[in-house]
Amino acid sequence: MTKGFVIAIDGPAGAGKSTIARKAAAALGFAYIDTGAMYRSVTWKLLQTGKPFSEELAGKLAGEIRISFRPEGNRNRVFVDETEVTEDIRSAAVTKLVSRVAAVPAVREAMVDQQRRMGREGNVVLDGRDIGTVVFPDSPCKIYLTASVEERARRRGKELEEKGQAVDYKALQAEIAARDKQDMERAVSPLKQADDAIYLDTSDMSIDEVTGAILRLAGERRPKA
Ligand code: DC
Repeated sequence: MTKGFVIAIDGPAGAGKSTIARKAAAALGFAYIDTGAMYRSVTWKLLQTGKPFSEELAGKLAGEIRISFRPEGNRNRVFVDETEVTEDIRSAAVTKLVSRVAAVPAVREAMVDQQRRMGREGNVVLDGRDIGTVVFPDSPCKIYLTASVEERARRRGKELEEKGQAVDYKALQAEIAARDKQDMERAVSPLKQADDAIYLDTSDMSIDEVTGAILRLAGERRPKA
């Protein structure tokens, strides 16, 4: 049973989920849990050990890790134990390995457990791949957020260019498509739209338009006191 109202936002990489989820949570005064950041944190911790990837090691670390979020302005700071990992979990090395880590059943069990515990405490927005299907299947407010591969690569490329990095757009599209495939075809909790989720293609929508659509839906679905 949950005490509060859970908004579940799922969708593929680069659809803008975290930006939208953070904005919607701030507008509503809800907590925001970036579940992708949690799988990235486990991956970061694994890389820190200097040992090669194994399911056993990933599962062990996921069982021990303490992840916390601290929203600050338009950022959601992420901490593993006492170390800030906000930037490090977005590194190319973490991004490359995270889909494998997220496919390990023991990792998913540990993360879903933590997500349910955090989500049960009050009103919350969670974004990820399996929030509406597995983590909170009873949520009355589920959104499946997506955009074309071309548009997602364009958005991601723009972010990288703003950080001063050179961007190969074709390579970026291929990388996004490969991650979609891995996330959708894995055996445990694959990315898929929940039957009762609202499908939102954001290819031609601005961030404010998408946030507005989610806030309207939340207003309709929120149980009246
Ligand atoms: O949203 P993101 O790119 O930060 O997610 C990182 C990876 O974690 C992505 O490859 C899929 C995985 N993930 C998952 O399996 N389940 C979630 N609820 C969230 C993310």
